[in-house]
Amino acid sequence: MRTITIAARKGGVGKTTLATHLSVIAAGPGKPVLLFDTDPQRSLKWWWDLRQGDTPAMVECEARELAKILPAAEAEGVAYSIIDTPPHAENSIADAMRVADLVIVPTRPGPFDLAAVAATLDLSRRVGTVLLAIINHASPRTGASEPAIVAEARETLTRMGATVARSVVSQRVAMSHAVIGGQTVNEFEPNGRAAEEMLALWHEVQETMKGQGL
Ligand SMILES: Nc1ncnc2c1ncn2[C@@H]1O[C@H](COP(=O)(O)OP(=O)(O)OP(=O)(O)O)[C@@H](O)[C@H]1O
Ligand SMILES: [Mg+2]
Repeated sequence: MRTITIAARKGGVGKTTLATHLSVIAAGPGKPVLLFDTDPQRSLKWWWDLRQGDTPAMVECEARELAKILPAAEAEGVAYSIIDTPPHAENSIADAMRVADLVIVPTRPGPFDLAAVAATLDLSRRVGTVLLAIINHASPRTGASEPAIVAEARETLTRMGATVARSVVSQRVAMSHAVIGGQTVNEFEPNGRAAEEMLALWHEVQETMKGQGL
């Protein structure tokens, strides 16, 4: 089993959105996925309640309970555990980071958002986790090169010492449409650009884990 924690000290950057999408893409025949909602807001559970069907499976718990629950999930054959976290509760985020093989840190590309990543990076270093930063809410690419705001965000994050995913997630209305129907963009609009970006991101997440010998 691989455990992925999605964490950011800043609110509204896309933690829950990435948890929903990566969990649905990761799930497949012989690859059961378990989602954990450790955020008292329970946004992930809200989305899950809207879904048709019962995959991926969902657990609501406190982050401090993860260390006990995860071995049981692995024993039951879960392939990926994906953990959503609250934005401000440091102890809870640290507990969720501690059990992860990989910590994904989404951020918006704006200056205040990037500045706030420092606190998440610092926590991740203290816990000692492998981290991948992901730029979400990016302006959609129109030409051959990345929009300036995305390129600058990438540079700033790299300077801060973060490994930044090549894949970015653009700000798209399809994302909201999918989520309010309990879906992901890959289910709502499988041939759309948003779905393509999410698939590319998942491949890169897998590549990162393989690169760590996982
Ligand atoms: N790429 C995107 N395009 C369009 N809307 C997005 C995108 N990513 C996230 N959103 C929207 O932005 C809002 C915040 O996203 P989300 O709830 O996933 O962030 P969060 O980090 O989990 O927030 P919180 O810290 O409150 O838990 C939501 O309304 C979500 O639908
Ligand atoms: Mg959330």
